[in-house]
Amino acid sequence: MKNTKTFKTMIASVLAASLLAGCGSASAPASSASGSASGTGAEPYKVGLAQLVDHSSLNTIRDAFLDEMEDAGYVDGDTVIIDYQNAAGKTSSLDSIMAGYQADGDDVIVAIATPTALAAQNYSEEIPVVFSAVSDPVGAGLVASLEEPGGNITGTSDEVQVEQIIDLMLQLSPDIHTVGVLYNLGEANSVSNVERFKAYAKEKGLEVVEKTGTDNTTMQQAAVELASSVDAMFSPNDNTVATGMASLGQVAADAGIPYYVGADSMVETGGFATVGIDYEELGRETAKLTIDVLNGEDPATTPVSVFKENLNIYVNEDLLNQLSENGKTKVELPEDIASKENLKKVKAAE
Ligand code: TRP
Repeated sequence: MKNTKTFKTMIASVLAASLLAGCGSASAPASSASGSASGTGAEPYKVGLAQLVDHSSLNTIRDAFLDEMEDAGYVDGDTVIIDYQNAAGKTSSLDSIMAGYQADGDDVIVAIATPTALAAQNYSEEIPVVFSAVSDPVGAGLVASLEEPGGNITGTSDEVQVEQIIDLMLQLSPDIHTVGVLYNLGEANSVSNVERFKAYAKEKGLEVVEKTGTDNTTMQQAAVELASSVDAMFSPNDNTVATGMASLGQVAADAGIPYYVGADSMVETGGFATVGIDYEELGRETAKLTIDVLNGEDPATTPVSVFKENLNIYVNEDLLNQLSENGKTKVELPEDIASKENLKKVKAAE
C-alpha cells in the first residue's frame, strides 16, 4: 500500500474520463485539495493509516476500513494512496510514523486505537485526524466533547459497556464475589473503562482486585497472581491484553475461573464472554468519516460516532463446557440468555 507515484497521471485521466462519462458517484474521489478537479494535474488523496499493533480486532477494523474505502471508489494505489504503517506494539514508534505522514504531505491521518490517536493528535494542526476505536475520546483528551470535538480531529468510539458485562457476569457465574481486573495502566482507554467497571462492581457488591502489566511478560505474571486468588477475571479492550490473550486466557482456564473481556475478538482468542459491538461496522464508519473529511468536512464540528448499540453477547463455547463441568467457579448458561437472538457462541480460534 505504498505510494505509486507513476500511476498518478494515468489515474487523473481515468478519473477525468469517468467524470465525463458521468459514472463517478457523488462521494467518489475527484482530486486532492491541491489538485484541480478535472485537469490532468489531479493527484489522488494520500491517507496515512496507522495501527498500534497486530491483534485480530484492530486487523478487522483496518480491513473493514479498506473495504469501505474501496466500495466508495477510493481504491488504494489507484484513486487513493494509503500508506499503512503498523507500530508493532511500540508506542515509541508512533511519533516517527506520524512525522513521516507529515513529511509526505498526507491529506488525512487515520489512527487505529487510543495510543495511535494520541500520537496523531500532535500533528493535527497541520493534518486532519480521524481516529478509530478509541474507547474514551474525551477522557483521553482527544476531543472537547463527542458532539463537538473542537480540534482538527474526530473519529469512532468503542466505549466498553461495562455495566452490561457485569450483569452478564452475574448471570453466567452468579456465585462470584471477587473479580481480578487486568490491564495496562499506560492505555488511557483501559484506565477509563476500569474506573467505570469498579464503580458498577461496587454497586453490585463485588470486590475488585487490580493488577497491571505493560507487555506480554508482565501481563502473564500478573494474570498468574490474580487467577489464584479471585473468582473471575475481567479485562477491558486493552491492546496489550488483547495481544497476549491466548496465553492469558489459558491462565484463567487452568485456574478454573471465567475470564470476562471487553471485545468479541478476545473471546475468540481465549476469553470467556463479553457483551460488545461489531468492529467491522466501526471500521466501515471510520472510512465514511475519513471520506467526509477528505471532502472538506471540518473535524472540529463532526461528531464522534459512538458504537454502543446493536450489541451481541459472545460466549466461548469450549470454555463454557470446560468450566461448567469442572471449573472452580460455577458457570452456567441460563435459559433466558441461551435463548437470546443476539447470543453468539464462539468456538475458540485454532
Ligand atoms: N478501544 C481500544 C483503544 O481505545 C482499541 C481496540 C479496539 C481494542 N478493539 C479492541 C483493544 C479489542 C483490545 C481488544 O485503544
